[in-house]
Amino acid sequence: MGQLIDGKAVAARVRAQVKTDADRLRAARGLTPGLAVVRVGEDPASKVYVTAKKKAAEEVGFHSWEHHLDARVSQEALLSLVHRLNEDPAVHGILVQLPLPGHLDADAVVAAVLPEKDVDGFHPVNAGNLLLGRPGPRACTPLGVMRLLEEVGCDPAGKRAVVVGRSNIVGKPMALMLLQKHATVTVCHSRSDLPSEVSRADILVVAAGVRELVKGAWIRPGAVVIDVGVNRKEDGKLVGDVEFASALERASFITPVPGGVGPMTIAMLLGNTLEAASRQTRHVLGPEAGVGS
Ligand code: GUN
Repeated sequence: MGQLIDGKAVAARVRAQVKTDADRLRAARGLTPGLAVVRVGEDPASKVYVTAKKKAAEEVGFHSWEHHLDARVSQEALLSLVHRLNEDPAVHGILVQLPLPGHLDADAVVAAVLPEKDVDGFHPVNAGNLLLGRPGPRACTPLGVMRLLEEVGCDPAGKRAVVVGRSNIVGKPMALMLLQKHATVTVCHSRSDLPSEVSRADILVVAAGVRELVKGAWIRPGAVVIDVGVNRKEDGKLVGDVEFASALERASFITPVPGGVGPMTIAMLLGNTLEAASRQTRHVLGPEAGVGS
């Protein structure tokens, strides 16, 4: 029987550390980190996420602004908002919530954010820095997963890590972060032989967006299982991409849904925003500061 990884508790500790560091930054420099969040249209999940991000930013004492644009906004108008935020010295972090409505070119919008203000780590320069093993802001969800592994004493070095899902937001950066920590990494997708790949994993990260795709019976006994999925069942309950009850029987540690990876994404976003603010103002925090890798 596995142990649950309490993402809510870990995220609360990360947020408390960010608040302490932000208070020090304010005391030392009169500087308050600022996060601008851009939301386009009425995607219900995006509304929930953006509201939570703004609230969390305020709770640690950041300035935060939500820019909500009409679903029919033009590419030019959206880009002009991003340019304005790039030039605003009070804004240290910019996040454009994805997905965007289909008529907009999300790649162009992501690339328009200044790399040093890209607290999502999605800009091609920052994605490239991750690929090359250079420092820079990292995508929040995989960064949160790395922190959870650390919390349960799971060092990826020499372990077989299997990542299910190859999205730019989670799967690909996740694989690169695990590789940087010296895991042997396999990335699976819809054409993979999932039962066979999953059964070899010491560390399994599932971010496929398919409800209960990974069966407990596939999991190697003793594996650490991280479920990034959030899927709503007909009865309104949230479930992950892993069949939880049967996976719990075999895993050594497993994240629940909800309360596992979800709270970590926002906590790491706050850490990225603090680091962006401190870098942009050339203020060096003490050695104990910071939340990331
Ligand atoms: N949509 C789903 N996850 C994310 C995220 O981490 N950042 C942004 N900007 N959009 C998302």
